[in-house]
Amino acid sequence: MDILARAKALSAQGRSIYHLEIGEPDFATTDSIINAGIEALNQYKTHYTPAMGLTELRQAIADYYDRKFSAHIDPQRIIVTPGASGALQLAIACLLDAGDNVLLADPGYPCNRNIAQILASEAVAVPVAADTAYQLNAKLVEKYWNDRSRAALVATPSNPTGTLLPAKQLAELCQQVAQKGGRLIVDEIYQGLVYDVEDYSALQLSDECFVINSFSKYFGMTGWRIGWMVVPEFYVDSIDRIAQNLYLAPPTISQYAALQALKAETQVELDRRRDEFKRRRDFLLPALQQLGFEITVKPQGAFYIYANCERFTDDSFSWVKLLLEKQGVALTPGIDFGQYRANKYCRFAYTQSLEQLEQAVDKIADFITQGS
Ligand SMILES: Cc1ncc(COP(=O)(O)O)c(C=O)c1O
Repeated sequence: MDILARAKALSAQGRSIYHLEIGEPDFATTDSIINAGIEALNQYKTHYTPAMGLTELRQAIADYYDRKFSAHIDPQRIIVTPGASGALQLAIACLLDAGDNVLLADPGYPCNRNIAQILASEAVAVPVAADTAYQLNAKLVEKYWNDRSRAALVATPSNPTGTLLPAKQLAELCQQVAQKGGRLIVDEIYQGLVYDVEDYSALQLSDECFVINSFSKYFGMTGWRIGWMVVPEFYVDSIDRIAQNLYLAPPTISQYAALQALKAETQVELDRRRDEFKRRRDFLLPALQQLGFEITVKPQGAFYIYANCERFTDDSFSWVKLLLEKQGVALTPGIDFGQYRANKYCRFAYTQSLEQLEQAVDKIADFITQGS
């Protein structure tokens, strides 16, 4: 946040800043989705919907899983939420009581540990490194699970590392957590932004997980605040009651826009954007490695590269701050994502044009040759 604020301040002063710190697509929402939102407004769709979301949207999400992954999901198990953020809050509120804990990867998406804390529960940060592609696995769950653990949370692809959990590893994790009497929460918010390998959903492997998704990233709708979650049938009623009390209902206009987002015709454009992200990754990854950043696990999803920068510094936060001041390149320091070896890492987001990325790499190269 310090870096973001400083980058904005420098931009306001007229300096050209390379924004490689931004965790959302640079593309605006597609016209067809925007028009569906406008159409909903023109039809005065301005009232609350049910807390679980519009019936037709829940059905459309079920159809989407059917079409994309041949996974048959009962729409009753699908809950429309205000972004993946809303879903993460519901999942943690539903599964954990005060004093309970959830296992999650360090480095990982920072809000999860704060959500747990706000809800009077705890996050157990499990240090992960390149040897497990920065993901939890069954062995780590065995090691870190304690008598107050109720859930484990993974994200595939991951923020900040862009790495995936292979299906086999996810199935083992799911089994291990079940054996412990807990639930696995799988955050699939970057689903659709997967390169090189076939995309999959945890729902193809099990009906026992909490599976979280969002219209923010692949669908390019961050500002619409709309996502969803699929839960085992047993939890549907409690989630409904928590949702009613926390926020009443997800945004109505966004739900109508989301119906358009799920249509096969919209996906042609969304896949074109995914291909553009892949092109950027294919440029940035070798370029950073050539500069001396160590990236040993190939990031195959999302739009992030988590790079080891210890060749240049043992304090990535100060290094990132100096890089911004001197060269106008904004990155996110490892400390944003946890404690484990955080000062040796920084995150690059390729949410800028290829041209911007090329210029940013030149700026970083100058910074390094000047001795940082
Ligand atoms: C891993 C992960 N989960 C959840 C979120 C929340 O996203 P949203 O609430 O926009 O769907 C983010 C946002 O960056 C994320 O990176």
